[in-house]
Amino acid sequence: MKKILVIHGPNLDLLGQREPKIYGKTTLIQINQELKKIAKKKNVSLTIKQSNHEGEIVDLIGTAKKKYEALLINPAAYTHTSVAIRDAIAASGILTVEVHLSNIYSREEFRQKSLISPVAKGTILGFGGKSYNLGLLALLDLI
Ligand code: DQA
Repeated sequence: MKKILVIHGPNLDLLGQREPKIYGKTTLIQINQELKKIAKKKNVSLTIKQSNHEGEIVDLIGTAKKKYEALLINPAAYTHTSVAIRDAIAASGILTVEVHLSNIYSREEFRQKSLISPVAKGTILGFGGKSYNLGLLALLDLI
């Protein structure tokens, strides 16, 4: 069975209560349930992690290539700042799809740059929790 790693970055554990006008009312648990439903239907295995710690995310990506076919990641605020996460994805060479709930290009200027997009196969953003579903389907099409 093919294996996919899902990483949710900082503050995404607060979804549902965190700035609902921007991120919606869907909780991370609900997002994960939807992803698990898709995975079950498509007969793939998902490992889902959430971390608020940049180094922990770097470590997860560092060992991912050996264990997983692909990575679905919402790097959250680290999208805009983390050379370390970008380098970890580039170094591992793992097939990566980046997702965001919000359309970062319609928001504050500091969010309008992703350090991760250049090392991802593609990016899906702006569809709320559904961005994850679409991202997973895109990955499944590729592996
Ligand atoms: C986010 C967008 C980021 O700018 C922000 O820091 C997040 C969530 C999104 O999914 O829309 O935490 O990645």
